[in-house]
Amino acid sequence: MKSAGSALPTVVFLVLVHALLIESNTDQYVQISRIDLDWSRAIRRVDERFLSVAIDASLIADEKFVNLLNSAKLRTLTKGLNPAFLRFGGTKQDFIKFSPRGRYLHVNNGTVRGNLCEKLKLPEFLEKKLKQEWVQQSKCLLEEELEGKYKKAKFSEYAVDLLYAFANCSGLELIFGLNALLRTRENSWDSGNAELLLKYCESRSYMMSWELGNEPNSYEKKAGIRVDGEQLGQDFVHLHQILQESAIYNSSGLYGPDISQPRDGRKDLLTGFLETGAKVINACTWHHYYVNGRDTSIEDFLDPKVLNTLETKINEVLEVVETVSPGKKLWLGETSSAYGGGAVGLSDTFVAGFMWLDKLGLAAKLGLDVVIRQVLIGSGSYHLVDDNLDPLPDYWLSLLYKRLVGPEVLKAEMFESSGLKKSTRLYLHCTNRKSMLYRQGAVTLFALNLNKHEVRLSLPSHMRNGTVQAFVLESSETGEQGLYSRSVKMNGKVLKMVDEQTLPQLQGQKLPPGEHIKLPAFSFAFYVLIDAQATVCK
Ligand SMILES: *[C@@H]1O[C@H](CO)[C@@H](O)[C@H](O)[C@H]1NC(C)=O
Ligand SMILES: *[C@@H]1O[C@H](CO)[C@@H](O)[C@H](O)[C@H]1NC(C)=O
Ligand SMILES: *[C@@H]1O[C@H](CO)[C@@H](O)[C@H](O)[C@H]1NC(C)=O
Ligand SMILES: *[C@@H]1O[C@H](CO)[C@@H](O)[C@H](O)[C@H]1NC(C)=O
Repeated sequence: MKSAGSALPTVVFLVLVHALLIESNTDQYVQISRIDLDWSRAIRRVDERFLSVAIDASLIADEKFVNLLNSAKLRTLTKGLNPAFLRFGGTKQDFIKFSPRGRYLHVNNGTVRGNLCEKLKLPEFLEKKLKQEWVQQSKCLLEEELEGKYKKAKFSEYAVDLLYAFANCSGLELIFGLNALLRTRENSWDSGNAELLLKYCESRSYMMSWELGNEPNSYEKKAGIRVDGEQLGQDFVHLHQILQESAIYNSSGLYGPDISQPRDGRKDLLTGFLETGAKVINACTWHHYYVNGRDTSIEDFLDPKVLNTLETKINEVLEVVETVSPGKKLWLGETSSAYGGGAVGLSDTFVAGFMWLDKLGLAAKLGLDVVIRQVLIGSGSYHLVDDNLDPLPDYWLSLLYKRLVGPEVLKAEMFESSGLKKSTRLYLHCTNRKSMLYRQGAVTLFALNLNKHEVRLSLPSHMRNGTVQAFVLESSETGEQGLYSRSVKMNGKVLKMVDEQTLPQLQGQKLPPGEHIKLPAFSFAFYVLIDAQATVCK
């Protein structure tokens, strides 16, 4: 076997056998799905702040915890998500009152800008102490939520200052949720406390927008007060009048009514609200969770049928809005995987990413304008950063989404005979041009593989030629146990912050031209088709 002449046939033979093995493997185990991508036109355009985040109002229940927002690490992580809205709201918002105490952050001329963001850095020892105490505090808050008995709390100027400074220094636009459970004898909204707060914010030139009330459909359960849609709409008109009289809030955003998702087809509160209030809101908001955090399992998180329930709900709400106030923008004003604070051991692990990414894809495709993730930081287990303020898998997913996905929604379809269709899901957008990572005209395909085997996607032949940059996210641990992991690998490397001020470089991996796109078992990925030259993406 010394001469090349005799070795050659053996090599050729081996290559052939090998190729045949791969082929038969392919037939048996690897599913190849033909997909069609259409970037000739955009089917929708969402807000640039489409992916936005929330901080639960319970953070303010004990004011000292608002200091956590001065953490340098948290600031760095949040900056990565802009442009975005920062919603401050949730159940607690209807149980807190602004109570001026003459205690505020000292800033030049009442404006928070420039080096103030530097000055606000939380000393390390204090951050450590607060983080430790926060663990206990979150337990108390969660218990309160489970019992459904909400303690009333007060917040001062200082808390507002820190909240605003956090939003402003991270480049996020603050939406403040006002208390709608302050009511007069006639059961209309008592605006006195809100006016006090507005005056204070105005004196500090804080640019922000507003909401009024959280999940009013359950006021009876939470507080024994019943407010119907029509009355709530009138309350919004009242708030709008107050804002109109303000020199700085006369053009600021007003969003509502933040109802929870329709159950058993009950939509009467929304209809009544829109009839009286639609004219004063900039977008109609509702909340969505797939499952109850205390009554769910990993199977739900991976079940295409559960993921599909969002489509039904979106269409139900869209139908009401289109009927009563056609053209009004619709937002998911608060949303996550599981309600009741999330599902322990699921909502903060790798597997939560399937619900999150599918929600982002579906909501944009069906025409929602903004999706606000519950929560950036806070109690429960659906947060984007953990108790040590380190990023969880859904943070990294959100960061990649921000960088790679632009506001124009394009059409992506999958052709399949195997009937497994819904367990591989894909979405197509223009690539985000604002992040300036790729040339004009690029498109971003993102896909989820809910199967326990690899799936291959076959691009239409005329698209196979171009360069594809892949960002494949998998659990940092192998096997199904890996689904419960609190860390995530991108293209094989565990994602971590470089230091408190620095996010890692998120570099894609160039795929070999002409090959199928390989999506590993239980993974999701973004693929930037750099040479798409899509006119709508230029
Ligand atoms: C504060 O504002 C006043 C007038 O609005 C201005 O004259 C002064 O220069 C400002 N000071 C600082 C430190 O920005
Ligand atoms: C932050 O504050 C400055 C000064 O008031 C303002 O110009 C800027 O628009 C604010 N940024 C955000 C994101 O609200
Ligand atoms: C808001 O008020 C300011 C100051 O009074 C005024 O200059 C501006 O035109 C008003 N804007 C709107 C949209 O009404
Ligand atoms: C693929 O690339 C080759 C070489 O760069 C080029 O000649 C060919 O036209 C391309 N095919 C398509 C369909 O774009």
